[in-house]
Amino acid sequence: MEKLTERLLLREFTKQDVDAIAEFRRDPRYLEYYYRPAYTREECVRFVDTCIAWSKESPRCKFQLAITDRSNGILLGNCGIRTESIESQRGDIGYELSPIYWGQGFASEAVRSILQVGFEDLDLDEIEARCVVANKRSVRLLYRLGFEEIEHVPPRPSRGEFVDRQLPERSVFLLRRDKWTHCYRRMIS
Ligand SMILES: CC(C)(COP(=O)(O)OP(=O)(O)OC[C@H]1O[C@@H](n2cnc3c(N)ncnc32)[C@H](O)[C@@H]1OP(=O)(O)O)[C@@H](O)C(=O)NCCC(=O)NCCS
Repeated sequence: MEKLTERLLLREFTKQDVDAIAEFRRDPRYLEYYYRPAYTREECVRFVDTCIAWSKESPRCKFQLAITDRSNGILLGNCGIRTESIESQRGDIGYELSPIYWGQGFASEAVRSILQVGFEDLDLDEIEARCVVANKRSVRLLYRLGFEEIEHVPPRPSRGEFVDRQLPERSVFLLRRDKWTHCYRRMIS
């Protein structure tokens, strides 16, 4: 899949993208709300391999696309939408940019496009996003795109890989199809 926006090309990952991902995933600004050590190159290889594997699934219900600058091809970050199955009515999104490119509206532009994949290609009724409350840039992005906060998740000990860590307070945000249709119509009129 490819999606063209005013300034961006969203495209499938290739193995050549690993270095660009690994470069920003060790930046302390990027890591601030992940509460984990820098990603290793091997973890980035696994991430890119997973994105490539999803692109080959049929029927496809998981999309994780590289965000590139359409004028020069430079990789700025990535964003995605996932559902459990093609029949699912709810999906969830994720997005990340290299800190070098923050503050220019690139993530909002890319996520708008991935929401379109969710509501039009996957025919979802609602799209969820989970976000650390303290991650104000991400919270602002979600409100900017019309999401509403529906749930507060209190801090709790991590059960995953980093069991000695406390997971911070998070929020669950939701965007419903009718709200998106309303916002989208306003955007293109
Ligand atoms: C979350 C994240 C993607 C947000 O990045 P961001 O650059 O703030 O978001 P955008 O690219 O949409 O840029 C929006 C900002 O650019 C500004 N901007 C400048 N030019 C703009 C333009 N042409 N169009 C739109 N916004 C523009 C906006 O005013 C806004 O600034 P503000 O938030 O201070 O009001 C980024 O912080 C990130 O990658 N963090 C690490 C990963 C992460 O936390 N992911 C989310 C997990 S839930």
